[in-house]
Amino acid sequence: MSSPRPHTVTAAGMAPAPQLSGNSLPMQALRAQIGRIARCGAPVAIRGESGTGKELAARAIHAQGARASFPFIAVNCGAIPEALMEAEFFGCRPGAYTGARHERQGLFQAAHGGSLLLDEVDDLPLAMQVKLLRVLQERRVRKLGGSADEAVDVRILCASQHGLARGVAAGTFRQDLFYRLNVIELALPPLRERRGDLQVLCEVILARLAPGQAVSLAPPVLAALAAYAFPGNVRELENVLERALAFADGGVIALDGLALPSVAGSMPLRALPPPGVPERQACLPGMALRGVAPVLPLEMYLRQAERDMIMRALVQARYHRARAARQLGLSVRQLRYRMQKLTIQEPLLDERMDDR
Ligand SMILES: Nc1ncnc2c1ncn2[C@@H]1O[C@H](COP(=O)(O)OP(=O)(O)O)[C@@H](O)[C@H]1O
Ligand SMILES: [Mg+2]
Repeated sequence: MSSPRPHTVTAAGMAPAPQLSGNSLPMQALRAQIGRIARCGAPVAIRGESGTGKELAARAIHAQGARASFPFIAVNCGAIPEALMEAEFFGCRPGAYTGARHERQGLFQAAHGGSLLLDEVDDLPLAMQVKLLRVLQERRVRKLGGSADEAVDVRILCASQHGLARGVAAGTFRQDLFYRLNVIELALPPLRERRGDLQVLCEVILARLAPGQAVSLAPPVLAALAAYAFPGNVRELENVLERALAFADGGVIALDGLALPSVAGSMPLRALPPPGVPERQACLPGMALRGVAPVLPLEMYLRQAERDMIMRALVQARYHRARAARQLGLSVRQLRYRMQKLTIQEPLLDERMDDR
């Protein structure tokens, strides 16, 4: 099984990141705020539910600022095994640990001149928080196993779902690091609070998923989307549309291709075998009921298969994440990372207890 890539690099000159689309008042205000923030070099702490566009906002801040021609690097702090973290962030010298044969750059060196997004920064272990604070104060890093410091010039952006103050109050996030990172706060509103953006978002996403093709939504589709709570926000909308596109007939997405979870805001149980359908037949959500399963792009098939297996493990483990992770051969952090990527949400607590 391939492990998720914990970080992505956008070097200067690559294709521009997608824009933050939407004409609702909150989105207009957000874009204006990003324009102002981009001009200064201060750290920014971005807060918002999963899939609201935190990474996109960070890319926009970078792209509109003076560092645009230097790298933008995003790292998911929840996805790096703790033992590898220091080498990953600061680089390492040959022989620093077993298996470290070559000199390696860290993320800070790679982002030199540009911006580094620390995604899910509240997942950083306390020991790593101390090391990060030191780097931010001294603007110098030392490779693991190295003896000399190197100067690094990096704009730090960070993202979390609930904001960093919560971690400080809970004692899991250092207050001194909080003050370093939380200089400017940027909050991204959930999609259900800006439903007026849905149409534009659908157009933008469909143009991205099916470039050059004319795809339209049947009239009731937009109404159904507007009635749904989208716990996974724009990322979930992308998933819903990608799946719907596979079932679109003559370029029209109809209501029955939409497969929205029936209980708004709770776990999308559609990926479980429907009652009475043997698991073997229900290997992909919704498809066993359609006779001949359509051929899908492999990436999409694999994503759905991964989603299905993770959901199955969660249900069998009664949403006990550690147990589900063990069954899947993943660490809890890896499981959480994949769940976030696939916009898998656990049901609300009362449904969990209802699960017999
Ligand atoms: N306002 C928006 N306009 C267009 N696409 C968006 C918007 N917000 C989010 N997206 C898309 O939704 C997906 C999730 O966005 P991302 O920035 O990764 O969210 P987060 O980091 O908050 O989980 C990405 O594919 C992104 O391009
Ligand atoms: Mg993200």
